[in-house]
Amino acid sequence: MSEDNSSRHAVDVSEAQIAVHWREEAYFSPSNRFIAQANLTDPGVFERFSLDKFPECFKEFADLLDWSKYWETTLDASNPPFWRWFVGGRINACHNCVDRHLAKHKNKTAIHFVPEPESEAVQHLTYQELFVRVNELAALLRDFCGLKAGDRVTLHMPMVAELPITMLACARLGVIHSQVFSGFSGKACGSRISDSESRVLITMDAYHRAGQLLDHKEKADIAVVAAAEDGHRVDKVLIWQRYPGKTSSPTKLVPGRDVVINELLATYRGQRVDPVQLPAEAPLFLMYTSGTTGRPKGCQHSIGGYLAYVTWTSKYIQDIHPEDVYWCMADIGWITGHSYIVYGPLALAASSVVFEGVPTHPDAGRPWRIAESLDVNIFHTSPTAIRALRRNGPDEPTKYQHHFKHMTTVGEPIEPEVWKWYHRVVGKGEAVIVDTWWQTETGGFLCSTVPGIHPMKPGSAGPGIPGIHPVIYDDEGVELPIGSGRAGNICIRNPWPGAFQTIWKDPERYVRQYYARYCRDPNSKDWRDWPYLAGDGAVQAADGYYRILGRIDDVINVAGHRLGTKEIESAALLVPEVVEAAVVPVADEIKGKVPDLYVSLKPGLAASAEIANKISASVVSEIGAIARPRHVIIVPDMPKTRSGKIMRRVLAAISNGQDPGDVSTLANPEVVDTIKGLAK
Ligand code: PRX
Repeated sequence: MSEDNSSRHAVDVSEAQIAVHWREEAYFSPSNRFIAQANLTDPGVFERFSLDKFPECFKEFADLLDWSKYWETTLDASNPPFWRWFVGGRINACHNCVDRHLAKHKNKTAIHFVPEPESEAVQHLTYQELFVRVNELAALLRDFCGLKAGDRVTLHMPMVAELPITMLACARLGVIHSQVFSGFSGKACGSRISDSESRVLITMDAYHRAGQLLDHKEKADIAVVAAAEDGHRVDKVLIWQRYPGKTSSPTKLVPGRDVVINELLATYRGQRVDPVQLPAEAPLFLMYTSGTTGRPKGCQHSIGGYLAYVTWTSKYIQDIHPEDVYWCMADIGWITGHSYIVYGPLALAASSVVFEGVPTHPDAGRPWRIAESLDVNIFHTSPTAIRALRRNGPDEPTKYQHHFKHMTTVGEPIEPEVWKWYHRVVGKGEAVIVDTWWQTETGGFLCSTVPGIHPMKPGSAGPGIPGIHPVIYDDEGVELPIGSGRAGNICIRNPWPGAFQTIWKDPERYVRQYYARYCRDPNSKDWRDWPYLAGDGAVQAADGYYRILGRIDDVINVAGHRLGTKEIESAALLVPEVVEAAVVPVADEIKGKVPDLYVSLKPGLAASAEIANKISASVVSEIGAIARPRHVIIVPDMPKTRSGKIMRRVLAAISNGQDPGDVSTLANPEVVDTIKGLAK
């Protein structure tokens, strides 16, 4: 069909028909070997967690934890959408992640810290050592800083063992931590300090990244100034030394404000602090995340509900057993790291790997060397990292003797081609893969296959996990039936224990943004009237698996039709020369929006009109003429954040002839001018 034809018939082309252009992939089965050892293989679990068993079914989650006082009410839903889980219970998160393991596992490694320089030894911190270090720091925070339950503290720390130690020390006291991703600027950190009203900032002097020892302390000074500009004063900046006993940052200490933790800790050697037992619904931490507009919002997570949720999902979706060595390559500065490096795995007494560096540095074999040497058997990362590793070292995994039983992909839709490489080459065809869909707000996984029960389908997250009941609504609030193939807004029908409690200091925005859209009656006291709006587009196949299309705002509306940007990118990635693809919407007078497609090629290949045409043809044949990119722009590299996400915003600005704004925080700001030249 020519493009002219398709626009003439535009009104007839429903979302369903567009979605049909998605190629459904064949299933892959988990191995019998995996199933034989899996924590969850009974399909009856879905019956146990059916909606008519809600909310009492979640007792099973809470029972994975130690409670100093057992709770009375599973869910208090009397003030929707402010849900209170496990009401009446008292609990401490640090006790659950550390103290309770000492009887059986004190000599087991809790944290393997892997420094970026390969010349530096890996540090293996046992549960007993973790207990000692967390207690000493908790004593310091309490006695030197005067911190107590309910106070907020901002952490701006890199991927080092001291980060979970600091989080757990806060949790021991009931102090609410707000960890800001270390790659964020001092200014970004400052605005989070002032929003959370933290009087104490905890940071580290320096850390290694991509071969450089970065001065991190300088960001603390900027952060304190930025907070002051918001009218908020920071009393103390506590600084960990990357190399204890040595200063690794040229930035001077500010007398009266800055304190070196490693020096001060000597005073607290051997001290013990009783874990402060708090109500289940007391906040454990804030995690700032970007919204559609304005300032980042602080998602507030509870102690009891959150910890129960990440522990259950770590056990049954990540399949963590206490003897496993588990490596999630995310950054603890994001929710994935909080839930699935720190709280979930440690609550299960697993050994969790904390890696300081960049996966492709010094080469794309690094992750596989680490996995081989630590005998990692569960591996967890993002499609972006998988794509980068595939691009830079497609055969590297075959050179190492690692064996994963289980692998995760999280954070973005994964293109089937990339999934298959992950499965075949990284997982050596042995590992199960879970594609877990969730968000900062949701605390833990929402959709995923249960690895010992369901077959995997590349490019699809899977059904709702036990206890999660998703639904897709169209813009009018009509429920799309299973298998309709139509794209709509994915929501969750029921509350769940991991859901965030509110936006810090902005409960109205919490209600407006997540619950108002499909609320049936704002005065209703019935949770059934308050579905949670995730803000993602999705389609559900006849088998019940959900495929996430991306943020609602990432959907490109071409001539009134929805196209998932990931669909187009996936089609581009089918072309063997292509390693990365990013689609951005470009304003078009006639069609509203049309897609521009940016791609990068395998190393050593030169851009050519022939390759561009091939890519365009692939999009048309995979999806249809309606998705044909306006331009295919072959670039040497994508503009990326320091966490490796492609900055589509920058590409969209270039395509739309706008100023891409401040690009200095990118990992590779220099590429922006080159792309501008190419996109002309
Ligand atoms: O669009 C979805 C995408 O990431 C968003 C949440 O981002 P964040 O809060 O930073 O949390 C990331 C870690 C969970 C979602 O709204 N997303 C997350 N997981 C997937 C995904 N998109 C597709 N497939 C996934 N598995």
